Amino acid sequence: MTKRYKVWVSRPLFPEALARLEQHVELHAEAIERVHSPEQLRERLAGVDAAIIGLSDRVDAATLAGNHRLRVIANLAVGYNNLDIDALTRAGVLACNTPDVLNETTADYAWALLLAAARRVGAAERWLRAGQWTGAMRFDDWLGVDLHGKTLGILGMGRIGQAVARRAAGFDMRVLYHNRTRLPEVVERQCAACWVDKAALLRESDHLVLVLPYTPQNHHVIGAAELAQMKRGSVLVNIARGGLVDEAALAASLAAGHLAAAGLDVYEDEPVVHPALLALEQVVLSPHLGSASADTRRNMAQLATDNVLAGLGVGPDAGRPPTPINPQVLAARGVLGKA
Ligand code: GLV
Repeated sequence: MTKRYKVWVSRPLFPEALARLEQHVELHAEAIERVHSPEQLRERLAGVDAAIIGLSDRVDAATLAGNHRLRVIANLAVGYNNLDIDALTRAGVLACNTPDVLNETTADYAWALLLAAARRVGAAERWLRAGQWTGAMRFDDWLGVDLHGKTLGILGMGRIGQAVARRAAGFDMRVLYHNRTRLPEVVERQCAACWVDKAALLRESDHLVLVLPYTPQNHHVIGAAELAQMKRGSVLVNIARGGLVDEAALAASLAAGHLAAAGLDVYEDEPVVHPALLALEQVVLSPHLGSASADTRRNMAQLATDNVLAGLGVGPDAGRPPTPINPQVLAARGVLGKA
């Protein structure tokens, strides 16, 4: 049977998601993980009706120029700073992301980084594996900083931020947050979190977790001035986007002993990590894997698949993609969508 739509998947995906796509569309799935050049991306997207792409695939007006076929882009991520949403909307292309399914897993990982950085897990493990634990260990060696009983600051209080906050109760921590818009009181109560302005957040938090989306407006929202306002001995965790933090300034603050440690999952220029951060033992570094549990990555793949099929108007939810970013495209097509 000839299938009506062609779909490109820019990176290897779980077989069950590919199989579901294949029931409805002609599938072109990459078998190897790679970064596509702007030209390759333009070319691939020109020949298909929909695509599932990753964060390293940047789609803007130039990518879309002259493309009259593409109808849906499904991003395999909740963040979508790789997509120019205005350009997609102007081109009539529905953009979708994968919110919610990764909230709890990503919040777990923020805590993994916070604990590992505060208690020096990375450096201690490297030391042990290097065969350096050869005799009695000094009682005052490997001293970290406590989390329990301290104040946790959260910058960006969307659903992942809220999930990070809820976990703080188990550590008996006070939670402060800053967000452009204050949460409804009922949500603040559920998270046991108090809104403060950014200056108070920096001043009063013992440890700070960044969970806000990246936009050009919040580029380097944590720079040298903000780091200087944070408490001496505090820990910074970034599970959001690298561009939020001035990495050179962070490395300088850590090297000077102002911040005790940092836990980073994201970087300004991925996959490049600032050499000054690589050189510091007190930084826990991971390769942008906050949502990478087996269940969650499978759920993200299924959600992206749902978005593509529904966005193309096929399958059981035809016309009602679960998580559109620009649902106005559906309205313009005369389809309501579930926004
Ligand atoms: C990962 O960074 C995501 O946005 O899902």
